[in-house]
Amino acid sequence: MQCMRFEGKTALITGAASGIGRAAAMRLSEEGARLVLADRDAAGLQDVARAADSGRGAPHIIQYDAADAGSTASMAAEAITAFGRLDCVVCNAGIYRRAHFADIGADEWNTVLQVNLTSHARIAQSTVPELKKTGGNLVAIASTAGLDGIAYAAHYAAAKAGLIALIKSLAVEYAPDGIRFNAICPGRVRTAITADLAPMENQNDTLIVRPPRLAGHTQGGQPEDIAAGIAYLGSIDAQYVSGSVLVIDGTQTVG
Ligand SMILES: NC(=O)c1ccc[n+]([C@@H]2O[C@H](COP(=O)([O-])OP(=O)(O)OC[C@H]3O[C@@H](n4cnc5c(N)ncnc54)[C@H](O)[C@@H]3O)[C@@H](O)[C@H]2O)c1
Repeated sequence: MQCMRFEGKTALITGAASGIGRAAAMRLSEEGARLVLADRDAAGLQDVARAADSGRGAPHIIQYDAADAGSTASMAAEAITAFGRLDCVVCNAGIYRRAHFADIGADEWNTVLQVNLTSHARIAQSTVPELKKTGGNLVAIASTAGLDGIAYAAHYAAAKAGLIALIKSLAVEYAPDGIRFNAICPGRVRTAITADLAPMENQNDTLIVRPPRLAGHTQGGQPEDIAAGIAYLGSIDAQYVSGSVLVIDGTQTVG
């Protein structure tokens, strides 16, 4: 029997044009959600919107730039009005940049923090009043790098650690309002974000994180593995789950 946990619900997914965001759009659509899909990649958004159109109404798409505070705020405002209600917000848009720590300049540091952390805080601020009305929830896609750190991406790890702390703080602050906030920490997942990474000059390979060891998944997980976690945390099945951090990494960070 197909699970329809999002029937009558509206979900906003950022970074929806590819990878984990695209898989989340497909999964929540299959489970009955009306979708608002946001990304900076307009062509990718149109493609996902076509694929995720379940016949219950085409997804509403919004092009925005998470590096820009004004663009992010107006995206969130439009997402609330698009279908007249918002039940689930998936803060997923992100960038991964690799560099020796000594080479990370102020602009690069600020961009990584803005896209991976500050923009999600802005979206949470804008959508909390609506989530209060609908008894909704927010799921943020952090990273195992935010728990354990990662060599050659200190700015990324710092942003993801901040995102986890943000989610836990909001879970407590808005618990009396019935809004749930949770984070997912994916390990290695096969998407565009890391596909083109060539070794850096003077890279010490022994410092690079180890692979997942779970049989059948040693090359990394699939975006659908993370989408399944998003669908769980965003649904009624997780009604008693708030302030939690779900690690999905095929044993990459344990043992
Ligand atoms: N793939 C992995 O191994 C992995 C591991 C841990 C965490 N994550 C996290 O998962 C999330 C999704 O990443 P993914 O792996 O699907 O990669 P991806 O590159 O396929 O998707 C990221 C999406 O974010 C969008 N985006 C990037 N910058 C943006 C901006 N300034 N404004 C609006 N949209 C923007 C991109 O256009 C893209 O559609 C990210 O937050 C990433 O940090 C990924």
